[in-house]
Amino acid sequence: MLYNDLSVNGKGHLAICGCDAEDLAAEFGTPLYVLDEDMIREKCRTYVDAMHEYFGPASAPLFASKSLCFKGIYPVVESEGMCVDVVSPGEIFTALAAGFPAEKMFFHGTNKTDEDIAYGVDSGIGYFVVDNQNELAVLDRTAADRGIRQKVLLRLTCGLDPHTLEAINTGRVDSQFGVPIDTGQADDFVQAALACENIEVAGFHSHVGSQIFESDSFNRQVEILTEYAAKVKEAYGLAVKVLNIGGGFGVRYTEKDPVIDIPARIKEVSEHLNAACEKHGVSFEAIFMEPGRSIVADAGTTLYRTGGVKEIKGYRNYVTVDGGMTDNPRFALYKSEYTVLNASRADAPADYECTVAGRCCESGDRIAENISIAKPERGDVIAVLTTGAYNYAMASNYNRVPKPAMIMIKEGTPRLVIRRESYADMMKNEL
Ligand SMILES: Cc1ncc(COP(=O)(O)O)c(C=O)c1O
Repeated sequence: MLYNDLSVNGKGHLAICGCDAEDLAAEFGTPLYVLDEDMIREKCRTYVDAMHEYFGPASAPLFASKSLCFKGIYPVVESEGMCVDVVSPGEIFTALAAGFPAEKMFFHGTNKTDEDIAYGVDSGIGYFVVDNQNELAVLDRTAADRGIRQKVLLRLTCGLDPHTLEAINTGRVDSQFGVPIDTGQADDFVQAALACENIEVAGFHSHVGSQIFESDSFNRQVEILTEYAAKVKEAYGLAVKVLNIGGGFGVRYTEKDPVIDIPARIKEVSEHLNAACEKHGVSFEAIFMEPGRSIVADAGTTLYRTGGVKEIKGYRNYVTVDGGMTDNPRFALYKSEYTVLNASRADAPADYECTVAGRCCESGDRIAENISIAKPERGDVIAVLTTGAYNYAMASNYNRVPKPAMIMIKEGTPRLVIRRESYADMMKNEL
């Protein structure tokens, strides 16, 4: 099995944290998002411990809310010592409603509206991650109006291509996120920020991309940022205190994907950082990282019920499930691969070649193409692994499909954390 919280029980069913997948589907309905809380906590601890050890005690991981935002996640990550990043007032609102302290939030977003900026400042956000000079000007005015000095990180791009999927590759020069160092525009950005009386430039942010398995891009990124920090110290007298090097470590969607040793990678990045600091004569008070996927993806499994099993002679077999692109649009968006199991026949040979399709009237509504699972019958429970990140967060009501319920399992006990949406819920704003 891909993860050690999965097993096959005496009935031949898939068990998640010891809970029979058939029983979970019967009790909570399908589609159902299942999250292993213990695994999420373990991932948080891995980051917190490694970052303290290699980057120093003021350093911390921020959970990237965009990967999975709902009230119940915030007490979990907070109690494990994480800060969070947020990209919209909606994420701020959710985190605040869960009692997460605003001063431990980092507010991202490539287009923060004037209202967004005011909302962030009024909420007492710890750091704004400023994307561009327009935002800087509005933030400066907003902070002045409130008589405060807002701490910010300036979002820079380092010109790195981590050879990942185009749509989740954000660190190159040609990017809508941040300001490039290579073109010299970062210099104008820094100078503009330093001229803002109501803004305190604490440091820089940069995010290279997502689902990254190789080390080179992170190692190069800290070298580039350190060299740039030395340059701005020399040129503009700005002593950069903080670097936020983004998220992006990859996870195993299928057996083909490598296992990443997170502490070893963090150690390696810290070695490159320390060498660069020594070379350029600078030091930082704290380093932040923003893992999303590598905190929650592995901990998630989605359970569906099989509808039709259709064999198109001479072509392929289709297994349709009662969810699909509405609860997991990642295949439709990126052709992302997943590991799929027949949870009702987890002990049977996985020898039925099929494509798992969703319920929407959309030919792109697929979960996985040309995979092998134990041949299902209508009513069998299908499990799709590694769905903890960018699934619920990206879910939609296309075809008027309600969003699924979510449960969290802690020490073998499941609890409902998000109720299944009703048809009435989907109409609640319609006049
Ligand atoms: C700025 C920023 N930080 C953090 C993340 C989280 O990345 P991941 O979930 O791959 O760790 C992203 C993802 O797109 C991002 O854009």
